[in-house]
Amino acid sequence: MAKILVTGGTGYIGSHTVVELFNAGYEVVVVDDFSNSDPKILDQIEQISGQKPVFVQLDLCNEQEVNLFAQAHQDIEGIIHFAAFKAVGESVQNPLKYYRNNFYSLINILTAFNSRIQLVFSSSCTVYGQPDQLPVTEVAPVKKAESPYGNTKQIAEEILQETCAVTPDLKVIALRYFNPVGAHASALIGELPIGVPQNLVPFITQSAIGKRGAITVYGNDYNTADGSAIRDYIHVVDLAKAHVAAIKRLENSTAANYEVFNVGTGKGSSVLEIIHAFEQSTGEKLNYVIGARREGDIEQIYGNVSHSNEVLGWKAELGLEEMMSSAWNWEKYLRDNPF
Ligand code: WQD
Repeated sequence: MAKILVTGGTGYIGSHTVVELFNAGYEVVVVDDFSNSDPKILDQIEQISGQKPVFVQLDLCNEQEVNLFAQAHQDIEGIIHFAAFKAVGESVQNPLKYYRNNFYSLINILTAFNSRIQLVFSSSCTVYGQPDQLPVTEVAPVKKAESPYGNTKQIAEEILQETCAVTPDLKVIALRYFNPVGAHASALIGELPIGVPQNLVPFITQSAIGKRGAITVYGNDYNTADGSAIRDYIHVVDLAKAHVAAIKRLENSTAANYEVFNVGTGKGSSVLEIIHAFEQSTGEKLNYVIGARREGDIEQIYGNVSHSNEVLGWKAELGLEEMMSSAWNWEKYLRDNPF
């Protein structure tokens, strides 16, 4: 049974991916520094899967710690690298924090496992900026990032591509996520925003449960059907399954040793459509106001996911109803079982 390392495995997408790796019969080792997650998530994973991953608390920016970890875990065959800071707004205020953390961790992992590894990298549709054509394909030009966070994703992809070019034993798949939302059907794991949620869906659920005031729709003067901005929202469980599909491809394929895949649904939804979908699937009435556009936001993006469907053999299955109802069930779980 192959052993997979999941860095950032107690985080939102990481924890859902650990569950899907267990479902697929893998052994799992998780490293995390809990800078953006809670240790209790490990118990929640055990409740869902009936097993806990091996866990090591680790600062991936500490080269010596990472080298010692790699020496003690030489049987790790694959790595899914989630560990990174990802708040767009914070990255603008504190770029060095983002460049240091997101690059030191990646470079230490690649060096410690002496680049003989299969690695799935957590990238983002942010690298496309505002695409010239929609739906956006993997060959669309990468545009100058609007934030240091987005820039760390672009440069990390370049680091991986250039390292793969001279390291035949290193095989990498970069997954460009669109907008992950929702929670596991058990409502035992989900998104745990720190402070006021910057992302739309966690703000919606916190507003609905009474933790926040009215939702502000950041702009209704975009060139879209209802004027609000469009994104490709994907259920976090579908996204987690895409990582298992990527690991399986790395184990079996003799394709190029650096590949990129869009991971979305291929469907765009506006902010107002998300608000109405939440109300319809939960029966909750939302309070929202129309406000000014948010600095750095693009107007619309949704993915062409045929490459992932055909080559990874993966396709998103869950729709807006399940995304919204699972996000709401998780918010209610947190109210009744505060972390
Ligand atoms: C979605 C839409 C907002 C909050 C970011 C990162 C991306 C990925 C997902 C990590 C936008 C609008 C939001 C609110 C609103 N993260 N909105 N009111 O900005 O598309 O993507 O998170 O991989 O890399 O860039 O996600 O959820 O913040 O915003 O109207 O209170 O909702 O303007 O149109 P975004 P988001």
